[in-house]
Amino acid sequence: AKDPYGDSLAHTNGAAKKGKSRNIIEKLGRAGKTAWFSMAHRPTMVADLEDYDYENLDTFPSDKVAFFVLATYGEGEPTDNAVDFYEFIHAEEPSFSGEGDGEKPLSNFKFVAFGLGNNTYEHYNSMVRNVNKAFEALGATRIGAAGEGDDGAGTMEEDFLAWKEPMWAALAESMGLEEREAVYEPVFDVVERPDMDPEEDQVYLGEPNKNHLEGTSKGPYNANNPYIAPIAESREIFTAKDRNCLHMEIDLSGSNLSYTTGDHVAVWPTNAGKEVDRFLNITGLAPKRHTVISVKGLDPTAKVPFPSPTTYDAAVRYHMEICAPVSRQFVSTIAQFAPNDEIKAEMTKIGNDKEYFHETVIERSLNIAQLLEIMSNGEPWSKVPFSLFIEGIHKIQPRYYSISSSSLVQKDKVSVTAVVESTHKPNAPHIVKGVTTNYLLALKQKQHGDPDPDPHGLNYALDGPRNKYDGIHVPVHPIIMVGPGTGVAPFRGFVQERAAQARAGEKVGKTVLFFGCRRRTEDFLYEKDWEQWKQDLGDSFELHTAFSREGPNKVYVQHKLQENAKEINELLQQKAYFYVCGDASNMAREVNSLLAKIIAEQRGLPESKGEDIVKAMRAANQYQEDVWS
Ligand code: 2AM
Repeated sequence: AKDPYGDSLAHTNGAAKKGKSRNIIEKLGRAGKTAWFSMAHRPTMVADLEDYDYENLDTFPSDKVAFFVLATYGEGEPTDNAVDFYEFIHAEEPSFSGEGDGEKPLSNFKFVAFGLGNNTYEHYNSMVRNVNKAFEALGATRIGAAGEGDDGAGTMEEDFLAWKEPMWAALAESMGLEEREAVYEPVFDVVERPDMDPEEDQVYLGEPNKNHLEGTSKGPYNANNPYIAPIAESREIFTAKDRNCLHMEIDLSGSNLSYTTGDHVAVWPTNAGKEVDRFLNITGLAPKRHTVISVKGLDPTAKVPFPSPTTYDAAVRYHMEICAPVSRQFVSTIAQFAPNDEIKAEMTKIGNDKEYFHETVIERSLNIAQLLEIMSNGEPWSKVPFSLFIEGIHKIQPRYYSISSSSLVQKDKVSVTAVVESTHKPNAPHIVKGVTTNYLLALKQKQHGDPDPDPHGLNYALDGPRNKYDGIHVPVHPIIMVGPGTGVAPFRGFVQERAAQARAGEKVGKTVLFFGCRRRTEDFLYEKDWEQWKQDLGDSFELHTAFSREGPNKVYVQHKLQENAKEINELLQQKAYFYVCGDASNMAREVNSLLAKIIAEQRGLPESKGEDIVKAMRAANQYQEDVWS
């Protein structure tokens, strides 16, 4: 789960994955429209798998091609919207609705496939691989290679671009298409409405939907109908001055939303005022930022990614991911609208040259407005149609955070724990700030009546929780938790819950927590809480701390696991649950292999056997992870 927007994120989430697949398929759809389908103008249509009648694929016209963009979840499952489709094509004899006229049901069906995966997970890109196999077994013909994008390596965009070129060539050959020069065709019609007043008329100024606009919002709340939640409490929990870590309590009482300990909560951020200003200035939209606009799709499948009518300001502030890194494809497309030929040539070069793009954009961590500013020296890019920004800039997605409270103790209030990301990268001309964590910081400042350095609009919205940990709901069951840094978040909820159960006289099983941070005096999260809960839990609670920067050598949670190898093995033999939360790329991997080693050593087995045991624990949900990179 790589969050490209500067924040560490709890876990890859469905909405984001679904959003990413959609962005890629829309890019393909559009490229198809403008570049290749010239002989006869071939229309493209973009649809969500769950809205598409895949039962009819056996009668799919043979002069058309279906493109599939398929994301894989962490443990190899399909995204929510692809589950039915996936089961359908993997049935022993999928019940296609037509007669089909080939030997196999999909003999006339042509497809193209690209997968979104993450190589830090074992079942890397299994969706695209399995769907490809299933289609081929049903007689379908794939055009080009089945592409695989890797979020783990952070190369999704480049993997896509590298796969796309030969795929288009194969497609052109197979379908008899000729290349023509790309001509930009807007997807959205943006009409300015000087007759409308943003304050007086029904205009969306950040409200997510009609009910919110009319002030009658009601549940059920979900990603399409988020709940605008009040912040009940917010505080700083690091003592170090140069880093911020927030503990925020969010009030759910008016929402009917419920959660269970270990869930995630989705936070919809708002872009920082400074970045909104930068964007509106460099695009030349600042003077008319509060002009009402009405936006419509120019073909029936083009969905406007925000409610309309709205204003330029509101669309950019609440709905567009303007702080994300710029994609190379977008640089290429926007080049044609540069203020002059010199800038156009330079932008085209950046867009076409992978290395040069890396040097000029990626290494400097530039977002779109920062890049445009640097390229034109501040001269506004007024020729870019607003439709192009709507098409090329992703729609803001909710970010999922591990809930750090217990639902048993505080049913109507979820807490989240977030380190505010503000990094000075060596080659970046700007400080790179996490969108959501800085948004939370601004909310905290607002709540405390501190001057808000960066005025934000609406308060955040939440979406229903997800994620399930098995095992914690049985209080007598032993659990082992490994959560360095903010990875401790869900475990705070677990321990809070068990302390309450102990106070209520319930018998509580062994509850062992491994926590790591830099220094006891700086970033030891929830030190007081642990002390208090220790009083309730007594010997059943053990906290092992690893302070990495106190002595001459790094001490990590792994060292503490090794020191407690005997006890860990005994608890695992009593079927303890083992949970890991935090950094995926190093910590979680290392903990996984260390546990295999510990098991092997303690049980006198070869190391490979230890690895098999950990694999089996994972398969049985006895080993559970909530990790991000
Ligand atoms: P460090 O930053 O001093 O290297 C929370 O971020 C804690 O996790 C910090 O103490 C950090 O130490 C530590 N940490 C960094 N890399 C780690 C790894 N690979 N495994 C375990 N802990 C790690």
